[in-house]
Amino acid sequence: MTLPDNVQLVLFGAAGDLAHRKLIPALYDLHREGHLPAEVDVVGVDLKEMPDTDFVEFACDASVTEGRFFPKDADSTDWDAFAERLAYVQGDATEAETFDRLATRLDELAPEGPRPDRVFYLSVAPFLVEPIARGLAAAGLLDDRDRDRIVIEKPFGRDAASASALDEVLLQSASEHQIYRIDHYLGKETVQNLLAFRFANAMFEPIWDARYVDHVQITVAETVGVEHRGGYYETSGAMRDMVQNHLLQLLCLVAMEPPVAFAADEVRNKKVDVLRAVRPITPDRVHEVAVRGQYGPGYQAGGEVPGYRAEPNVAARSATETYAALKLEIDNWRWNGVPFYLRTGKRMPRRVSEISVQFRPVPHRAFPAGADEAFQPNRLVIRIQPDEGIVLRFQAKRPGPSMLLQPVAMRFDYDEAFDTPPEAYETLLLDAIRGDATLFMRADQVDAAWHVVDPVLEAWASAPPAEFPNYAAGTWGPAAADRMLARDGRSWIEPLPADPTPVGVAPEAVSDAHPSSVA
Ligand code: BG6
Repeated sequence: MTLPDNVQLVLFGAAGDLAHRKLIPALYDLHREGHLPAEVDVVGVDLKEMPDTDFVEFACDASVTEGRFFPKDADSTDWDAFAERLAYVQGDATEAETFDRLATRLDELAPEGPRPDRVFYLSVAPFLVEPIARGLAAAGLLDDRDRDRIVIEKPFGRDAASASALDEVLLQSASEHQIYRIDHYLGKETVQNLLAFRFANAMFEPIWDARYVDHVQITVAETVGVEHRGGYYETSGAMRDMVQNHLLQLLCLVAMEPPVAFAADEVRNKKVDVLRAVRPITPDRVHEVAVRGQYGPGYQAGGEVPGYRAEPNVAARSATETYAALKLEIDNWRWNGVPFYLRTGKRMPRRVSEISVQFRPVPHRAFPAGADEAFQPNRLVIRIQPDEGIVLRFQAKRPGPSMLLQPVAMRFDYDEAFDTPPEAYETLLLDAIRGDATLFMRADQVDAAWHVVDPVLEAWASAPPAEFPNYAAGTWGPAAADRMLARDGRSWIEPLPADPTPVGVAPEAVSDAHPSSVA
């Protein structure tokens, strides 16, 4: 994909939290690394009144506090060059006049010559997506189907029906190839590396199926609570906020068939195939294959933290889940009979995202009795964050006169092998600028993902939880999630320890599952 010479990037929600924490620092870092086109304008749009100079100050603060380079590696000439590209348009996204002013400003900023590519990034509350798409279309800002793109943050709808209604509205204003539905997990280097790991190495793919894999676990645990996002989170919950998008994306990358080529539609087709093959969860099975939880007060990092219901903008008797676990089965030739266990939660003991592929034991143990008491089947752990890496557990002979087996671990560490990777938003913003949609979600993928979780959401909505809160902050979630795996004779795998494990030493966590958490 070539970089256009001339781009105007318009950021709706420019004075908001995501813009400050992620988007503006990512743009500055891209500029700093020389990845942005020679001619670029970054135009913020928000309700807040501020002159261009205040927006520049806001952007500077964002880049200083959240960026990768600034100010440690400060270079004011560099910053000045970036600041010159910034502009701001105050406006209400529900008023047509905002879009006329925006169009005029973009024309004024555009250099002489060919019309710039335009990327409209919607970092806004879900109810604003529709009016913005309509406003852009009415002002003629999406007319150039090859050069105008619209990037939409998750959540995309709140179930399959609302997502498809939103698609219909968007398709009145733009073509599907102009719509970039973002899931920032796909921009993470470790997530993209799943494709390289699986499809650029010959040794894993032949054993990547039901003959050799016993089950797969995907854990995305956060230590943070809901922070200041109670208002949004009350309408979402863990299933909509994390599972429908981030965790199902990880599932797709682990389970998909090899693509014929790394072209946007080819990769996306293979991912959609996975979601379509997920066995539908019928209402009578929800209690067996889905668990929800909400954190109560507890202890974290040595301090006391409040329960979810005591967070700002959260209802005193809220039924919103802050933890969700699912057991999914994929009905295709490759994965028949292999369960995929997914879990995510806020206020867990550690921040960790990882995928554990648990292999089956060897078919026959030839070693003398007593040699393999510590035997543990092979396990591959792909650590998405933090301490990014891959760990393979296998058996070794313990040195000494007798044949004694012991699990050991081999570890690949990103930090040791590579320089600091770009932030997920840098990758995705650059892809949107280049017009490469490979890492963005197509409408049918979003729809298929909603179909996986909708039955659970419906069942949960119709039977409010009597037992919330059901896990203490600082624990691994509700006991019901442990019971779900125990029914299958399994347990959740303790995520790898934070410290890089030296090669050859089996970390406790690689050889043990963690015991039941506290409810
Ligand atoms: C966002 C969710 O999509 O992902 C947040 O809305 C969550 O609730 C965040 O905290 C986690 O992202 P990361 O990159 O920190 O794992």
